[in-house]
Amino acid sequence: MIKAFTDNWENVQNFQARPDDIVVATYPKAGTTWVSCILDLLYFGQTAPERQTSIPIYERVPFLEMSISNPDEDMVHKLTTTPRLIKTHFPVQFLPKSFWEHNCKIVYVARNAKDNMVSYYHFDRMNAVQPAAGEWSDFFQRFLDGQMVFGSWYDHVNGWWQKKKTYSNLHYMFFEDLVENTELEINKLCSFLGLSVSPEIKQHITGQVQFDNMKENKMTNYSTLSGAVMDFKTSPFMRKGKVGDWKNHFTVAQNEKFDEDYKQKMKDPSLQFRSLL
Ligand code: A3P
Repeated sequence: MIKAFTDNWENVQNFQARPDDIVVATYPKAGTTWVSCILDLLYFGQTAPERQTSIPIYERVPFLEMSISNPDEDMVHKLTTTPRLIKTHFPVQFLPKSFWEHNCKIVYVARNAKDNMVSYYHFDRMNAVQPAAGEWSDFFQRFLDGQMVFGSWYDHVNGWWQKKKTYSNLHYMFFEDLVENTELEINKLCSFLGLSVSPEIKQHITGQVQFDNMKENKMTNYSTLSGAVMDFKTSPFMRKGKVGDWKNHFTVAQNEKFDEDYKQKMKDPSLQFRSLL
């Protein structure tokens, strides 16, 4: 973890959730922004459409661990909407207790490790708050070793997957499924959230959250954030949005090493990712 996420540890851990809070939990670069936009559109697209053109996504769905510096000031406490949509990258064991106590609904998004790693690499290249990415080969090894901000991908996806077995208010979804059929995934989300949304609106939302639309939209592409934090010349936030980009980065030797290591770490056969071949 880095200072930006540990500075206010006690405040974050003591965060008081409300029963209707909705959490979107992910390992970094697994599709957080995408699902945040979908949730925001499902809840507020009809009643407050101006949000889409006037409030950046990181304010509509604020980042829990980055926000709680001063409870009167931070973005989560400033939310006036119901429900509050809150984003976190915490591994399951660090989610503040209050969310469990209130049985809050949680949407977890997972992405196959290879593409997740590549996306994280480019993010670390362009983000000044994150540790420097360094050489790809070093980054590759650090990812396998779990030396990443928010820890090991393997522990993260497994930890949340195990939790799903006992906590029914957790919806576990996959980036690859969203790419394959966004509308179907929106349907599943609506069922989980108990939302009744017309097919026309769901179709409209599917269009609004297509990669090219989100890439062009200033309120979703992070371009409203200070250039001191993100250097878009090095890499855009909305980079490619593809499945299988790892094939442009992994060498044959890296791929073999990765696959061998993956077998050792991913022991639960019920958790299967696509696009690793
Ligand atoms: P790439 O770097 O592979 O392009 P997060 O929001 O968790 O930081 O994840 C960012 C990743 O999700 C980036 O992946 C980004 O391009 C991708 N992404 C965001 N919105 C998307 C969309 N609407 N369709 C496809 N991919 C999207």
